[in-house]
Amino acid sequence: MSRLVVVSNRLADPRKPAAGGLAVALGDTLARTGGLWFGWSGTVAPDDAAGDGQLHVRQAGRVTLATVDLSAEDFAGYYQGYANSVLWPVFHYRLDLADFNAAYVDAYRRVNRMFAARLMPLLRDDDTIWVHDYHLIPLAAELRALGCRQRIGFFLHIPVPPPLLLAALPHHAWLMRSFFAYDLIGLQSQADVAHFRRYMLNEVGAEELEGGRFAANGHETRVGAFPIGIDVQEFERLGQAPEAQRTHERLLQEYSRCQLLLGIDRLDYSKGIPQRVRAFQQLLEKYPENERSATLIMIASPSRDDVHAYGDLRQELEGLCGAINGDFGDLDWMPLRYIHRVVARRRVPGLCRAARVGLVTPLRDGMNLVAKEFVVSQDAQDPGVLVLSRFAGAAEQLQEALLVNPYDTEGMADAIQTALTMPLEERQQRHARLMQRIREHDVHWWRRSFLDALAAPAAQLLPA
Ligand code: G6P
Repeated sequence: MSRLVVVSNRLADPRKPAAGGLAVALGDTLARTGGLWFGWSGTVAPDDAAGDGQLHVRQAGRVTLATVDLSAEDFAGYYQGYANSVLWPVFHYRLDLADFNAAYVDAYRRVNRMFAARLMPLLRDDDTIWVHDYHLIPLAAELRALGCRQRIGFFLHIPVPPPLLLAALPHHAWLMRSFFAYDLIGLQSQADVAHFRRYMLNEVGAEELEGGRFAANGHETRVGAFPIGIDVQEFERLGQAPEAQRTHERLLQEYSRCQLLLGIDRLDYSKGIPQRVRAFQQLLEKYPENERSATLIMIASPSRDDVHAYGDLRQELEGLCGAINGDFGDLDWMPLRYIHRVVARRRVPGLCRAARVGLVTPLRDGMNLVAKEFVVSQDAQDPGVLVLSRFAGAAEQLQEALLVNPYDTEGMADAIQTALTMPLEERQQRHARLMQRIREHDVHWWRRSFLDALAAPAAQLLPA
Protein backbone atom coordinates (compact mmCIF):
# COMPACT_ATOMS: atom_id res chain seq x y z
CA MET A 1 0.00 0.00 0.00
CA SER A 2 1.27 3.45 -0.81
CA ARG A 3 2.21 5.80 2.01
CA LEU A 4 -0.14 8.70 2.72
CA VAL A 5 1.48 12.12 2.75
CA VAL A 6 -0.79 14.82 4.19
CA VAL A 7 0.13 18.46 3.71
CA SER A 8 -1.60 21.27 5.60
CA ASN A 9 -0.60 24.63 6.95
CA ARG A 10 -1.78 23.76 10.46
CA LEU A 11 -0.81 20.53 12.21
CA ALA A 12 -2.31 19.23 15.42
CA ASP A 13 0.06 20.09 18.23
CA PRO A 14 -0.32 17.77 21.21
CA ARG A 15 1.18 20.50 23.42
CA LYS A 16 -1.54 23.00 22.49
CA PRO A 17 -5.31 22.56 22.35
CA ALA A 18 -6.32 22.46 18.68
CA ALA A 19 -8.58 25.32 17.64
CA GLY A 20 -10.11 24.30 14.34
CA GLY A 21 -11.67 21.26 12.77
CA LEU A 22 -9.00 20.66 10.14
CA ALA A 23 -6.16 19.72 12.46
CA VAL A 24 -8.42 17.44 14.53
CA ALA A 25 -9.80 15.64 11.45
CA LEU A 26 -6.36 15.14 9.92
CA GLY A 27 -4.99 13.91 13.26
CA ASP A 28 -7.81 11.34 13.45
CA THR A 29 -7.19 10.31 9.83
CA LEU A 30 -3.44 9.83 10.16
CA ALA A 31 -3.83 8.00 13.47
CA ARG A 32 -5.57 5.29 11.42
CA THR A 33 -3.34 5.21 8.32
CA GLY A 34 0.08 6.33 9.57
CA GLY A 35 2.21 8.29 7.10
CA LEU A 36 3.89 11.66 6.76
CA TRP A 37 2.32 14.96 7.86
CA PHE A 38 4.01 18.03 6.42
CA GLY A 39 3.25 21.69 7.15
CA TRP A 40 4.09 24.83 9.09
CA SER A 41 5.78 24.30 12.46
CA GLY A 42 3.78 27.09 14.08
CA THR A 43 7.06 28.93 14.65
CA VAL A 44 7.89 32.32 13.20
CA ALA A 45 11.65 32.77 12.94
CA PRO A 46 12.88 36.18 14.14
CA ASP A 47 13.85 38.58 11.34
CA ASP A 48 17.58 38.23 11.84
CA ALA A 49 17.58 34.42 12.15
CA ALA A 50 18.28 32.15 9.19
CA GLY A 51 15.35 30.03 10.37
CA ASP A 52 13.06 30.49 7.38
CA GLY A 53 12.23 27.12 5.85
CA GLN A 54 14.17 25.17 8.44
CA LEU A 55 12.90 21.59 8.51
CA HIS A 56 12.09 19.72 11.74
CA VAL A 57 11.31 16.02 11.60
CA ARG A 58 10.00 13.94 14.48
CA GLN A 59 8.08 10.75 14.96
CA ALA A 60 4.70 10.63 16.76
CA GLY A 61 3.58 7.00 16.83
CA ARG A 62 3.04 5.87 13.23
CA VAL A 63 3.11 9.41 11.92
CA THR A 64 6.23 11.29 10.86
CA LEU A 65 5.77 15.00 11.43
CA ALA A 66 7.87 17.19 9.14
CA THR A 67 7.45 20.91 9.65
CA VAL A 68 9.04 24.12 8.47
CA ASP A 69 9.36 27.52 10.12
CA LEU A 70 8.22 30.72 8.46
CA SER A 71 10.08 34.00 8.43
CA ALA A 72 8.27 36.95 10.01
CA GLU A 73 7.80 38.47 6.56
CA ASP A 74 6.29 35.29 5.11
CA PHE A 75 4.07 34.79 8.14
CA ALA A 76 2.70 38.30 7.66
CA GLY A 77 2.32 38.06 3.87
CA TYR A 78 1.31 34.42 3.38
CA TYR A 79 -0.60 33.44 6.54
CA GLN A 80 -2.00 36.68 7.93
CA GLY A 81 -2.02 38.31 4.51
CA TYR A 82 -3.06 36.30 1.47
CA ALA A 83 -4.54 33.30 3.30
CA ASN A 84 -6.42 35.10 6.06
CA SER A 85 -6.97 38.63 4.77
CA VAL A 86 -7.75 37.72 1.16
CA LEU A 87 -8.78 34.10 0.58
CA TRP A 88 -10.59 33.54 3.88
CA PRO A 89 -12.87 36.62 3.61
CA VAL A 90 -13.51 36.22 -0.13
CA PHE A 91 -14.31 32.50 0.13
CA HIS A 92 -16.67 33.34 3.04
CA TYR A 93 -18.47 35.97 0.93
CA ARG A 94 -16.89 38.94 2.75
CA LEU A 95 -15.39 41.07 -0.01
CA ASP A 96 -15.81 44.04 2.33
CA LEU A 97 -13.17 42.58 4.67
CA ALA A 98 -10.63 41.60 1.99
CA ASP A 99 -7.32 43.45 1.84
CA PHE A 100 -5.98 43.10 -1.70
CA ASN A 101 -2.42 44.11 -0.87
CA ALA A 102 -0.19 43.18 -3.82
CA ALA A 103 2.67 42.01 -1.58
CA TYR A 104 0.51 39.27 -0.09
CA VAL A 105 0.19 37.21 -3.22
CA ASP A 106 3.96 37.24 -3.71
CA ALA A 107 4.48 35.89 -0.22
CA TYR A 108 1.79 33.24 -0.85
CA ARG A 109 3.56 32.05 -4.01
CA ARG A 110 6.94 32.14 -2.27
CA VAL A 111 5.81 30.02 0.67
CA ASN A 112 4.05 27.48 -1.56
CA ARG A 113 7.27 27.20 -3.60
CA MET A 114 9.31 26.81 -0.41
CA PHE A 115 6.93 24.12 0.92
CA ALA A 116 7.25 22.22 -2.38
CA ALA A 117 11.05 22.43 -2.30
CA ARG A 118 11.22 21.15 1.29
CA LEU A 119 8.68 18.39 0.71
CA MET A 120 10.12 17.04 -2.57
CA PRO A 121 13.19 15.27 -1.07
CA LEU A 122 10.97 13.54 1.51
CA LEU A 123 8.72 11.92 -1.10
CA ARG A 124 8.81 8.29 -2.25
CA ASP A 125 7.76 7.18 -5.73
CA ASP A 126 4.57 5.42 -4.66
CA ASP A 127 3.37 8.04 -2.15
CA THR A 128 -0.15 9.40 -2.35
CA ILE A 129 -0.13 13.11 -1.57
CA TRP A 130 -3.15 14.85 -0.05
CA VAL A 131 -2.98 18.64 0.25
CA HIS A 132 -5.42 20.56 2.46
CA ASP A 133 -7.05 23.94 2.42
CA TYR A 134 -6.78 27.42 1.01
CA HIS A 135 -3.26 28.15 2.23
CA LEU A 136 -1.84 25.66 -0.25
CA ILE A 137 -3.89 25.80 -3.47
CA PRO A 138 -0.83 26.27 -5.77
CA LEU A 139 1.25 23.60 -4.00
CA ALA A 140 0.63 20.85 -6.58
CA ALA A 141 1.64 23.16 -9.44
CA GLU A 142 4.88 23.95 -7.57
CA LEU A 143 5.51 20.24 -6.92
CA ARG A 144 4.83 19.37 -10.57
CA ALA A 145 7.30 22.07 -11.62
CA LEU A 146 9.91 20.22 -9.57
CA GLY A 147 9.09 16.95 -11.35
CA CYS A 148 6.63 15.38 -8.89
CA ARG A 149 4.71 12.60 -10.70
CA GLN A 150 2.82 11.09 -7.76
CA ARG A 151 -0.93 11.35 -7.46
CA ILE A 152 -1.94 14.54 -5.68
CA GLY A 153 -5.37 15.21 -4.23
CA PHE A 154 -6.64 18.45 -2.73
CA PHE A 155 -9.36 19.05 -0.18
CA LEU A 156 -10.82 22.50 0.43
CA HIS A 157 -12.22 22.80 3.96
CA ILE A 158 -13.86 26.18 3.36
CA PRO A 159 -16.75 27.06 1.02
CA VAL A 160 -16.40 27.93 -2.66
CA PRO A 161 -18.16 31.26 -3.35
CA PRO A 162 -20.19 31.95 -6.50
CA PRO A 163 -18.06 32.67 -9.63
CA LEU A 164 -18.64 36.42 -9.69
CA LEU A 165 -17.42 36.73 -6.11
CA LEU A 166 -14.35 34.66 -6.90
CA ALA A 167 -13.73 36.84 -9.94
CA ALA A 168 -13.24 39.80 -7.61
CA LEU A 169 -9.93 38.27 -6.53
CA PRO A 170 -7.23 40.11 -8.49
CA HIS A 171 -5.38 36.85 -9.22
CA HIS A 172 -8.34 34.51 -9.53
CA ALA A 173 -7.43 33.20 -12.99
CA TRP A 174 -3.96 32.15 -11.84
CA LEU A 175 -5.22 30.72 -8.58
CA MET A 176 -8.08 28.72 -10.06
CA ARG A 177 -6.02 27.37 -12.95
CA SER A 178 -3.53 25.99 -10.46
CA PHE A 179 -6.24 23.51 -9.40
CA PHE A 180 -5.54 21.65 -12.65
CA ALA A 181 -2.26 20.32 -11.25
CA TYR A 182 -4.32 18.10 -8.90
CA ASP A 183 -5.73 14.72 -9.90
CA LEU A 184 -8.74 15.14 -7.65
CA ILE A 185 -10.32 18.11 -5.86
CA GLY A 186 -12.60 17.44 -2.90
CA LEU A 187 -15.13 20.03 -1.72
CA GLN A 188 -17.42 19.99 1.29
CA SER A 189 -20.85 20.21 -0.30
CA GLN A 190 -22.86 19.98 -3.51
CA ALA A 191 -23.36 23.75 -3.34
CA ASP A 192 -19.56 24.17 -3.47
CA VAL A 193 -19.28 21.79 -6.43
CA ALA A 194 -21.98 23.76 -8.26
CA HIS A 195 -20.06 27.05 -7.75
CA PHE A 196 -16.75 25.49 -8.75
CA ARG A 197 -18.31 23.99 -11.86
CA ARG A 198 -19.85 27.30 -12.93
CA TYR A 199 -16.55 29.07 -12.40
CA MET A 200 -14.67 26.51 -14.51
CA LEU A 201 -17.23 26.71 -17.33
CA ASN A 202 -17.82 30.48 -17.34
CA GLU A 203 -14.47 31.95 -16.34
CA VAL A 204 -11.94 29.35 -17.52
CA GLY A 205 -13.96 28.11 -20.49
CA ALA A 206 -13.23 24.54 -19.35
CA GLU A 207 -14.84 21.57 -21.03
CA GLU A 208 -16.98 19.40 -18.76
CA LEU A 209 -16.39 15.66 -19.21
CA GLU A 210 -18.26 12.85 -17.51
CA GLY A 211 -17.50 11.78 -13.93
CA GLY A 212 -16.96 15.28 -12.52
CA ARG A 213 -13.97 15.85 -14.81
CA PHE A 214 -12.98 19.18 -16.33
CA ALA A 215 -10.44 19.86 -19.05
CA ALA A 216 -8.76 23.10 -20.03
CA ASN A 217 -5.57 23.86 -21.98
CA GLY A 218 -4.68 20.16 -22.20
CA HIS A 219 -4.97 19.69 -18.42
CA GLU A 220 -7.62 17.66 -16.68
CA THR A 221 -8.87 17.32 -13.12
CA ARG A 222 -11.84 15.81 -11.26
CA VAL A 223 -14.08 17.47 -8.68
CA GLY A 224 -16.48 15.97 -6.16
CA ALA A 225 -18.23 16.57 -2.83
CA PHE A 226 -16.72 14.67 0.10
CA PRO A 227 -18.34 16.10 3.25
CA ILE A 228 -15.93 15.78 6.14
CA GLY A 229 -17.03 13.95 9.30
CA ILE A 230 -15.79 13.35 12.83
CA ASP A 231 -14.30 10.27 14.46
CA VAL A 232 -17.54 9.23 16.15
CA GLN A 233 -16.09 6.36 18.18
CA GLU A 234 -13.18 8.42 19.40
CA PHE A 235 -15.48 11.27 20.37
CA GLU A 236 -17.82 8.90 22.19
CA ARG A 237 -14.83 7.54 24.10
CA LEU A 238 -13.86 11.08 25.01
CA GLY A 239 -17.42 11.62 26.28
CA GLN A 240 -17.13 8.66 28.65
CA ALA A 241 -13.78 9.75 30.06
CA PRO A 242 -13.69 11.25 33.60
CA GLU A 243 -12.98 14.83 32.54
CA ALA A 244 -16.05 15.05 30.29
CA GLN A 245 -18.19 13.41 32.96
CA ARG A 246 -16.94 15.84 35.60
CA THR A 247 -17.62 18.84 33.35
CA HIS A 248 -21.13 17.56 32.71
CA GLU A 249 -21.90 17.02 36.39
CA ARG A 250 -20.49 20.36 37.44
CA LEU A 251 -22.55 22.23 34.87
CA LEU A 252 -25.74 20.42 35.87
CA GLN A 253 -25.11 21.40 39.47
CA GLU A 254 -24.27 24.99 38.76
CA TYR A 255 -27.17 25.55 36.35
CA SER A 256 -29.72 23.34 38.07
CA ARG A 257 -32.45 25.96 37.60
CA CYS A 258 -31.54 26.81 33.99
CA GLN A 259 -31.71 25.42 30.51
CA LEU A 260 -28.33 25.87 28.87
CA LEU A 261 -27.70 27.11 25.36
CA LEU A 262 -24.20 26.58 24.02
CA GLY A 263 -22.01 27.95 21.24
CA ILE A 264 -18.40 26.86 20.67
CA ASP A 265 -16.44 28.60 17.93
CA ARG A 266 -13.20 30.20 17.00
CA LEU A 267 -13.72 33.94 17.36
CA ASP A 268 -14.23 34.49 13.64
CA TYR A 269 -16.54 36.84 11.74
CA SER A 270 -17.74 33.92 9.60
CA LYS A 271 -19.28 32.27 12.66
CA GLY A 272 -22.14 34.74 13.13
CA ILE A 273 -21.45 35.25 16.82
CA PRO A 274 -22.84 38.80 17.24
CA GLN A 275 -25.93 37.76 15.25
CA ARG A 276 -26.42 34.89 17.70
CA VAL A 277 -26.16 37.20 20.71
CA ARG A 278 -28.78 39.50 19.17
CA ALA A 279 -31.10 36.55 18.58
CA PHE A 280 -30.65 35.55 22.23
CA GLN A 281 -31.52 39.07 23.29
CA GLN A 282 -34.62 38.92 21.10
CA LEU A 283 -35.52 35.59 22.72
CA LEU A 284 -35.47 37.20 26.15
CA GLU A 285 -37.58 40.11 24.95
CA LYS A 286 -40.14 38.13 22.99
CA TYR A 287 -40.40 35.13 25.32
CA PRO A 288 -39.82 36.63 28.80
CA GLU A 289 -40.52 33.26 30.45
CA ASN A 290 -36.88 32.50 29.62
CA GLU A 291 -35.62 35.19 31.96
CA ARG A 292 -33.84 33.45 34.82
CA SER A 293 -34.36 30.07 33.19
CA ALA A 294 -32.13 30.20 30.07
CA THR A 295 -28.40 30.86 30.04
CA LEU A 296 -26.22 31.11 26.96
CA ILE A 297 -22.64 29.90 27.31
CA MET A 298 -20.57 31.19 24.44
CA ILE A 299 -17.05 29.96 24.04
CA ALA A 300 -15.18 31.89 21.38
CA SER A 301 -11.55 30.82 21.35
CA PRO A 302 -8.90 33.33 20.28
CA SER A 303 -7.99 33.08 16.60
CA ARG A 304 -5.80 35.08 14.17
CA ASP A 305 -5.60 37.90 16.70
CA ASP A 306 -3.29 40.07 14.62
CA VAL A 307 -5.57 40.19 11.62
CA HIS A 308 -7.49 43.47 11.72
CA ALA A 309 -11.06 42.21 11.28
CA TYR A 310 -10.67 39.82 14.21
CA GLY A 311 -9.78 42.60 16.67
CA ASP A 312 -12.82 44.62 15.56
CA LEU A 313 -15.06 41.60 16.07
CA ARG A 314 -13.79 41.04 19.55
CA GLN A 315 -14.58 44.61 20.53
CA GLU A 316 -18.06 44.43 19.04
CA LEU A 317 -18.80 41.19 20.85
CA GLU A 318 -17.54 42.36 24.21
CA GLY A 319 -19.80 45.42 23.93
CA LEU A 320 -22.84 43.33 23.01
CA CYS A 321 -22.33 40.74 25.75
CA GLY A 322 -21.83 43.43 28.38
CA ALA A 323 -25.01 45.20 27.24
CA ILE A 324 -27.17 42.08 27.49
CA ASN A 325 -25.89 41.16 30.92
CA GLY A 326 -26.32 44.75 32.07
CA ASP A 327 -29.88 45.01 30.73
CA PHE A 328 -31.21 41.61 31.72
CA GLY A 329 -28.94 40.26 34.46
CA ASP A 330 -29.74 40.27 38.15
CA LEU A 331 -27.85 39.54 41.35
CA ASP A 332 -28.54 35.84 41.06
CA TRP A 333 -28.71 35.35 37.28
CA MET A 334 -26.62 36.37 34.28
CA PRO A 335 -28.10 35.55 30.89
CA LEU A 336 -24.81 35.17 29.09
CA ARG A 337 -21.39 33.74 29.81
CA TYR A 338 -18.86 34.75 27.22
CA ILE A 339 -15.52 32.96 27.37
CA HIS A 340 -12.68 34.17 25.18
CA ARG A 341 -10.40 31.21 25.89
CA VAL A 342 -9.70 27.78 24.48
CA VAL A 343 -11.66 25.06 26.23
CA ALA A 344 -9.81 21.74 26.39
CA ARG A 345 -11.17 19.23 23.90
CA ARG A 346 -11.56 16.66 26.68
CA ARG A 347 -14.29 18.82 28.23
CA VAL A 348 -16.25 19.49 25.04
CA PRO A 349 -18.51 16.38 25.13
CA GLY A 350 -19.46 17.13 28.76
CA LEU A 351 -20.26 20.74 27.90
CA CYS A 352 -22.38 19.72 24.93
CA ARG A 353 -24.26 17.05 26.90
CA ALA A 354 -25.23 19.59 29.56
CA ALA A 355 -26.75 21.91 26.94
CA ARG A 356 -30.40 21.72 25.95
CA VAL A 357 -29.68 23.70 22.76
CA GLY A 358 -26.57 23.77 20.59
CA LEU A 359 -26.23 26.97 18.56
CA VAL A 360 -24.16 26.56 15.41
CA THR A 361 -25.15 29.60 13.42
CA PRO A 362 -22.35 30.69 11.06
CA LEU A 363 -22.98 33.21 8.30
CA ARG A 364 -20.98 30.89 6.07
CA ASP A 365 -18.99 27.77 6.93
CA GLY A 366 -17.38 24.99 4.91
CA MET A 367 -18.79 22.23 7.12
CA ASN A 368 -18.68 22.94 10.91
CA LEU A 369 -17.70 19.87 12.86
CA VAL A 370 -18.94 21.30 16.19
CA ALA A 371 -22.47 20.66 14.88
CA LYS A 372 -21.64 16.95 14.57
CA GLU A 373 -19.84 16.85 17.91
CA PHE A 374 -22.84 18.41 19.64
CA VAL A 375 -25.16 15.70 18.32
CA VAL A 376 -22.79 12.84 19.19
CA SER A 377 -22.39 14.16 22.77
CA GLN A 378 -26.10 13.99 23.56
CA ASP A 379 -27.82 11.45 25.78
CA ALA A 380 -30.04 9.58 23.28
CA GLN A 381 -32.82 9.25 25.91
CA ASP A 382 -32.98 12.97 26.61
CA PRO A 383 -31.13 14.72 23.78
CA GLY A 384 -30.59 18.43 23.28
CA VAL A 385 -31.56 20.17 20.04
CA LEU A 386 -29.21 21.46 17.37
CA VAL A 387 -30.04 24.89 15.90
CA LEU A 388 -28.01 25.04 12.71
CA SER A 389 -27.42 27.77 10.14
CA ARG A 390 -28.57 26.83 6.68
CA PHE A 391 -25.32 28.44 5.48
CA ALA A 392 -23.09 25.86 7.18
CA GLY A 393 -21.99 23.01 4.89
CA ALA A 394 -23.29 20.64 7.57
CA ALA A 395 -26.87 21.73 6.79
CA GLU A 396 -26.82 19.68 3.57
CA GLN A 397 -26.50 16.53 5.66
CA LEU A 398 -28.11 17.50 8.98
CA GLN A 399 -31.61 18.27 7.78
CA GLU A 400 -33.23 17.17 11.05
CA ALA A 401 -31.60 20.04 12.94
CA LEU A 402 -33.65 23.23 13.29
CA LEU A 403 -32.29 25.10 10.28
CA VAL A 404 -32.11 28.88 10.62
CA ASN A 405 -31.08 31.98 8.71
CA PRO A 406 -28.59 33.73 11.03
CA TYR A 407 -29.35 37.12 9.44
CA ASP A 408 -32.99 36.82 10.55
CA THR A 409 -32.81 37.73 14.22
CA GLU A 410 -36.46 37.12 15.00
CA GLY A 411 -36.58 33.85 13.05
CA MET A 412 -33.57 32.64 15.00
CA ALA A 413 -35.14 33.67 18.33
CA ASP A 414 -38.28 31.73 17.38
CA ALA A 415 -36.21 28.65 16.47
CA ILE A 416 -34.40 28.81 19.82
CA GLN A 417 -37.77 28.98 21.57
CA THR A 418 -38.96 25.95 19.55
CA ALA A 419 -35.80 24.11 20.57
CA LEU A 420 -36.27 24.99 24.26
CA THR A 421 -39.84 23.75 24.28
CA MET A 422 -39.55 20.76 21.94
CA PRO A 423 -41.30 17.63 23.25
CA LEU A 424 -39.09 14.71 24.24
CA GLU A 425 -40.34 12.38 21.52
CA GLU A 426 -39.53 14.84 18.73
CA ARG A 427 -36.10 15.47 20.20
CA GLN A 428 -35.40 11.75 20.28
CA GLN A 429 -36.54 11.23 16.69
CA ARG A 430 -34.49 14.09 15.32
CA HIS A 431 -31.45 13.01 17.30
CA ALA A 432 -31.67 9.39 16.12
CA ARG A 433 -31.78 10.44 12.46
CA LEU A 434 -28.91 12.90 12.85
CA MET A 435 -26.81 10.28 14.63
CA GLN A 436 -27.35 7.79 11.83
CA ARG A 437 -26.19 10.28 9.21
CA ILE A 438 -23.14 11.35 11.27
CA ARG A 439 -22.15 7.74 11.94
CA GLU A 440 -22.46 6.73 8.28
CA HIS A 441 -20.38 9.65 7.09
CA ASP A 442 -17.67 9.76 9.72
CA VAL A 443 -14.08 10.91 9.24
CA HIS A 444 -12.97 7.45 8.14
CA TRP A 445 -15.68 7.31 5.48
CA TRP A 446 -14.45 10.72 4.31
CA ARG A 447 -10.82 9.58 4.09
CA ARG A 448 -11.66 6.28 2.38
CA SER A 449 -14.04 7.77 -0.16
CA PHE A 450 -11.60 10.55 -1.07
CA LEU A 451 -8.53 8.33 -1.28
CA ASP A 452 -10.40 5.61 -3.24
CA ALA A 453 -11.52 8.23 -5.75
CA LEU A 454 -7.96 9.57 -5.94
CA ALA A 455 -6.59 6.07 -6.61
CA ALA A 456 -9.18 5.37 -9.34
CA PRO A 457 -7.63 5.56 -12.80
CA ALA A 458 -9.51 8.50 -14.30
CA ALA A 459 -7.44 11.62 -14.79
CA GLN A 460 -4.02 11.26 -16.32
CA LEU A 461 -1.08 12.77 -14.47
CA LEU A 462 -0.35 16.16 -15.84
CA PRO A 463 2.82 18.17 -16.05
CA ALA A 464 2.65 21.69 -14.66
C1 G6P B 1 -10.43 26.63 9.62
C2 G6P B 1 -9.55 26.37 8.41
C3 G6P B 1 -8.31 25.57 8.80
C4 G6P B 1 -7.61 26.22 10.00
C5 G6P B 1 -8.58 26.44 11.15
C6 G6P B 1 -7.92 27.17 12.33
O1 G6P B 1 -11.01 25.45 10.04
O2 G6P B 1 -10.27 25.70 7.40
O3 G6P B 1 -7.42 25.49 7.71
O4 G6P B 1 -6.52 25.45 10.42
O5 G6P B 1 -9.67 27.20 10.68
O6 G6P B 1 -7.37 28.38 11.92
P1 G6P B 1 -5.80 28.71 12.03
O7 G6P B 1 -5.63 29.97 11.26
O8 G6P B 1 -5.54 28.84 13.48
O9 G6P B 1 -5.05 27.54 11.44
